[in-house]
Amino acid sequence: MCGIVGYVGPKRVTDVLLAGLARLEYRGYDSAGIAVVHEGSIETVRRVGKLSHLIGAVAEDPVEGSIGIGHTRWATHGRPSEENAHPHADCTGRIAVVHNGIIENYTELREELQAAGHTFRSETDTETVSHLVESLYAGDLAEAVRLATRRLHGSYALAVVHADDTGTIIAARRDSPLIIGEGAGENIVASDIPAVLEHTREILVLEDGQVATVTADSISVVDAEGLPVTCERMHVEWDLEAAEKGGYEDFMLKEIHEQPKAVRETLRGRMGEDGTVQLSELAMTTEEVAGIRRVIVIACGTSYHAGLVAKTLVEQWARVPVEVDVSSEFRYRDPIVGGDTLVVAITQSGETADTLASVREARDRGAKVLAITNVVGSRVTREADGVIYTHAGPEIGVAATKTFTAQIAALYVLALKLAQAKGTLSPAQVQHVWSGLMALPGIIERILGDQGALQECADQYKDGCLSSLFLGRGIGVPVAMEGALKLKEISYIHAEAYPAGEMKHGPIALITPHVPVVAVATKGRTYDKVVSNLQEVRARGAETIVVATEGDTEIVKHAEHVLYVPETDEDLVPIPAAVPLQLLAYYIAKAKGCNVDQPRNLAKSVTVE
Ligand code: F6R
Repeated sequence: MCGIVGYVGPKRVTDVLLAGLARLEYRGYDSAGIAVVHEGSIETVRRVGKLSHLIGAVAEDPVEGSIGIGHTRWATHGRPSEENAHPHADCTGRIAVVHNGIIENYTELREELQAAGHTFRSETDTETVSHLVESLYAGDLAEAVRLATRRLHGSYALAVVHADDTGTIIAARRDSPLIIGEGAGENIVASDIPAVLEHTREILVLEDGQVATVTADSISVVDAEGLPVTCERMHVEWDLEAAEKGGYEDFMLKEIHEQPKAVRETLRGRMGEDGTVQLSELAMTTEEVAGIRRVIVIACGTSYHAGLVAKTLVEQWARVPVEVDVSSEFRYRDPIVGGDTLVVAITQSGETADTLASVREARDRGAKVLAITNVVGSRVTREADGVIYTHAGPEIGVAATKTFTAQIAALYVLALKLAQAKGTLSPAQVQHVWSGLMALPGIIERILGDQGALQECADQYKDGCLSSLFLGRGIGVPVAMEGALKLKEISYIHAEAYPAGEMKHGPIALITPHVPVVAVATKGRTYDKVVSNLQEVRARGAETIVVATEGDTEIVKHAEHVLYVPETDEDLVPIPAAVPLQLLAYYIAKAKGCNVDQPRNLAKSVTVE
């Protein structure tokens, strides 16, 4: 949802800005631009499309300067074009603004500013900020930005520069992420940590409504009223290497291969020597946990699919009813939430606008909210009552992979904790599940070790396949849904997931020899039923690609392609079964020549509603 960066310091400004934008490109890639302040004027370069176009333009015609701001865009208001690309200037060209978020009252502000004589050059909501700051500027840029933000409705992370001041960037935020990396004699403003890591690991996190004045040697912050405040500081543990490709062709492939580690790290330290599940983040006594009568999971996209896995686990192990809701629906449907409800908000980024709004809604209604996130210090960590971190490391590929399996690992821990507190699983049963969980990283490694069958299968479907169906039953349904989401988002092949038993109630009409069916048919209670469903679709001409349990030789009779996974308890199948489906989507998309890390129209962190 757009990435912004700003640099003040002794290094070559354009180098820092372009490298920072490269690390933020996962947030949007419709257009990119920079504005650099030099000897009393601002030079701006903007290009439509990927950052590489901007990099090429700057290489051809270098821009010098003392400070600068940059932006990589995910279009919300106005199509991707050079005029709509950031930075946006005011009428005089002496103020430049980059923005992530949505100014909801921009039409009203634009009309007001136009009536006062301002000329707009783009269709964006952001340009209203440039003109608003211009109208309020009386020699103090920070004050003008602060006064401007008081007129803005909606969300913003802003970086603003003025031609008169060759040493200061003004940064401000509300409901959109913004951090400031504190270096030695240099400071860097950015939407996300990877953009600053090359320069520093010391991070200052701006809070909603705050405005920061950033120079090479100082950062001073005021609140919305203009009163000085002290901000929280953080030290980032992971290094730049973790946010780079490390020899893999794409971030997505690297992150798929990081799943053994992500799952292992997420489970680490969760089982005490006395056999009790360790989850102090719940911040509840055992009696309080035992008193939970309902669980509601709120999440979007891939995180929602992890939530669907949790439904099966928590209901089966802890005998607590679970509802799973898409955040953008939950917040608007007058949900029934009470003091005995635990709301679990799953969000990799911790910044998804609808999930954050749902967290506020749930807390206002008296529920305790537990967040599961991958990003330390993200918004959700400040809004929830407790936080479980998935220790997956930074995920740069837009399609979630390692964070999905790490989320499920965290949800296993939560489900076991609930079951233990309620006494619904015996110590021996808990121990049995735990041993199975501990084996999962090794199982994923085995799946990753042999990708030959997958590549062969993918090759066959790279051409001419426009649509596909994904089937599963029970705990295999969310896995099928996630497999379908992966395929559609990175290969642009239509993919629809269904509980296999529902096929006969409509979707079977879609079956032709050109609509392959991907099924999760691992060993378990509904194995025979899934096999029957496979027979039904094959009888109607479908080709099938089946995820099955190693040693199941019968399944080859019902499948054109079998993707084997090592045997686990049925309840633990979602993690191993997700991996071949991620790889299948990956190889099909690669064979089609798609950009798997940056699929069209998407962005990693959805900070707008
Ligand atoms: C799909 C994907 C998205 C996210 C969704 C929620 O691969 O990544 O569907 O899962 O946008 O994002 P978070 O988990 O950050 O709230």
